[in-house]
Amino acid sequence: MKSSIVRKAQFNAAHRLFIKDKTDQENLEIFGKCAYPNYHGHNYELHVKLSGEIDSETGFVYDIAKLRAIIDEEIIENYDHRNLNLDTEDFKNIIPTVENIAVVIYNRLRKKIENQFEIQIKLYETPRNYTIYPDQNTFL
Ligand code: NI
Repeated sequence: MKSSIVRKAQFNAAHRLFIKDKTDQENLEIFGKCAYPNYHGHNYELHVKLSGEIDSETGFVYDIAKLRAIIDEEIIENYDHRNLNLDTEDFKNIIPTVENIAVVIYNRLRKKIENQFEIQIKLYETPRNYTIYPDQNTFL
């Protein structure tokens, strides 16, 4: 029987959205306030959905304590209270939009979770703005 579990986590991080070859004014036109030169913070809310077969012996799809530990080690330890542009290698060459952050988070978690399990990321940048990756035409 297939089922899913979801683990929620939060991290606070600073970022600035800008294209290196563009002027501050051009970046402001593209990215709005997120292009302000001196960075700003968001309270990111992360939902990690993990899907697979319910194990007939344990009744678990996956040990949620293990999922929590992976999220803590891979995501929270690296991003919480950091400047994503300056303090992490992950966004040296990737613009830290909420879309891109979700892809990077997915790739980090994918390496730690066996391929028999599907994972999907929902990442809120604000309570009203979020992204889903990978997009499987599901609306969470
Ligand atoms: Ni922003």
